[in-house]
Amino acid sequence: MLSQQQLSDWHRDGFLVLPGFVPAAQCEMLKAHVQELLSSVDPHADGSATVFSTTDQAHAQDDWFLASGDTIRWFFEDGAFSDGQLTRPLPLAVNKLGHAMHDLDPVFDSFSRTEELAEVAGDVGFIDPKLLQSMYIFKQPGIGGEVICHCDHTFLWTEPQSVVGFWVAIEDATVDNGCLWAIPGGHHTPAKSRFRLEPGGTGTTNDIFDDTPYPVDDLVPLEAEAGTLVLLHGTLPHWSGPNTSEMSRHAYTLHVIEGEAEYLPDNWLRRDAQLPLRGFAL
Ligand code: FE2
Repeated sequence: MLSQQQLSDWHRDGFLVLPGFVPAAQCEMLKAHVQELLSSVDPHADGSATVFSTTDQAHAQDDWFLASGDTIRWFFEDGAFSDGQLTRPLPLAVNKLGHAMHDLDPVFDSFSRTEELAEVAGDVGFIDPKLLQSMYIFKQPGIGGEVICHCDHTFLWTEPQSVVGFWVAIEDATVDNGCLWAIPGGHHTPAKSRFRLEPGGTGTTNDIFDDTPYPVDDLVPLEAEAGTLVLLHGTLPHWSGPNTSEMSRHAYTLHVIEGEAEYLPDNWLRRDAQLPLRGFAL
């Protein structure tokens, strides 16, 4: 699937942008399916009014978030509520859905498990790829929140490091509506921290290994038309800004780990034994 040039770009930069990877009709189909899923969301269900914010991290101590690894839950944008009431229609207030749609929802399952994605995973070195986490990210117009500069290994730790992000633009992502940015070659720097569960599993903590900030002046925008696949190496620093535009920026991310690596038991994302991780085979 990937050419020698693409593979050498991947090894040099730690990311790879593949325009036109997913047919536009598939993106439209997923988007419509998500709107259908949202129609059954009750924003006042017990414990569910959780705001996902990487700038204040309040969600990280919240059971709605910590128990979402093997189910499908919704999270709201910061600013979605005022005095306990939504400030806008729910489809324009949700920050993301996560984190096991690929195993629990047939539409996400078939979107995630394609021959093409499996081939790319093999090309970048996976021997026994396992689909660990899925997220549908809305980056809503006006209130879509910043995602601070981080690498995914920090949050999904295996020994040795193995996570790769498969990020698909469901809508066009531009510098105006909060596209991804990344530091070319930044994956050669090891993860600076590790986000993990505290003993007992009801809270999280961040182990800091290197407190120097990422050189954010080196970030470059990865603008992507709908249907573009962006691969992100697990130690690649990436960031996206707030969406202050009037255009949403929907994206779907799948995080894949190597089955032969050890997934540490104190990762925040946990799976019930009844729902074992699976590969790309449908
Ligand atoms: Fe990320």
